[in-house]
Amino acid sequence: MTKTVLVTGGAGYVGSHSCKAFAEAGWNIVVYDNLSRGWRDFVQFGELFEGDLLDADRLNEAFQKFKPEAVVHFAAFAYVGESVDQPGLYYENNTLGTVRLLDAMAKAGTDKIIFSSTCATYGVPTEMPITESMRQAPINPYGMSKLFVEKVLDDYETAHGIRSVKLRYFNAAGASPDGEIGERHDPETHLIPLCIEGVLNDTFKLTIFGDDFDTRDGTCIRDYIHVMDLADAHLKALDYLGGGGASDVFNLGTGTGTSVLEIVHAVERVTGKPVPREIGPRRPGDPPALIASAEKAARVLGWKPVQSDVDNVIATAYEWHLKELGRKAAL
Ligand code: UFG
Repeated sequence: MTKTVLVTGGAGYVGSHSCKAFAEAGWNIVVYDNLSRGWRDFVQFGELFEGDLLDADRLNEAFQKFKPEAVVHFAAFAYVGESVDQPGLYYENNTLGTVRLLDAMAKAGTDKIIFSSTCATYGVPTEMPITESMRQAPINPYGMSKLFVEKVLDDYETAHGIRSVKLRYFNAAGASPDGEIGERHDPETHLIPLCIEGVLNDTFKLTIFGDDFDTRDGTCIRDYIHVMDLADAHLKALDYLGGGGASDVFNLGTGTGTSVLEIVHAVERVTGKPVPREIGPRRPGDPPALIASAEKAARVLGWKPVQSDVDNVIATAYEWHLKELGRKAAL
């Protein structure tokens, strides 16, 4: 019998790409999403059940109707700056919303969950690469709202036997190679889509947030991971929990860092066009470098990034943006 997975936030960026991977692996998918930041046209691989994480009745209805084997929980707000200005929004939606979801799971007897955590839970790490056992000390409410959930998950396992895999993403980037889904944020704040905006839009100029960091070229270093590699990690985590695996936590990154300037140069190389840019002040809360140790996910889940070469990340992102422009023009 086909097994059902309930995917919260399946209309969002990483959620929609993961649904594609789940569908290809034969899962039946129900997307639970309130479309506040997700996109109806990204729900291409399963049924959309519109609902809010804070709505306990609606959640119970979904669990009763679909009886999912497992939950993959993407739904969350994810703007660091917004979380500093409006912490309540983040603790309510990300933390309390997950509590509601876990209560509905406990009630329905669904006992497996994969949770989208973040490297933002590490704060400003003192050692690189970052391993899962390093100290977690978030420097913004977004990271803290996710760290709280990591703790809550442990308590729900003790009380209700819900096993969890926590996946700490580094910098998700790229798009589905077929160009059907990709990175669409409103507003867009992420580096690679903004570099592409610079290539495609004559009036846009990228601001590089600081070139005086203690890094090889003075700009910040991040670990960019292709969204389809992230999707594959979720699939492997589903199989892992389904096979009786114990609750665990994994970094999802490549182990390689790329600087902001290196990304700019790569976008110019891949697209063959200049990225207009200027150097601006540092953005508050940006750690100089964040690079994952991806050793544990490889060892335990058998997961290895295969699409995360920076040029491939940028090429797929660029393809998506070109198609998106075409879709907008056709409207
Ligand atoms: N950057 C610029 N100019 C821009 C946008 C970004 O120079 O206009 C730089 C940033 O300063 C940073 C790098 O490009 O050094 C990457 O920035 P992104 O905004 O693309 O990504 P972040 O590393 O800030 O954020 C990611 C996730 C967050 C998560 C965070 C953890 O998107 O959800 O990692 O630190 F919280």
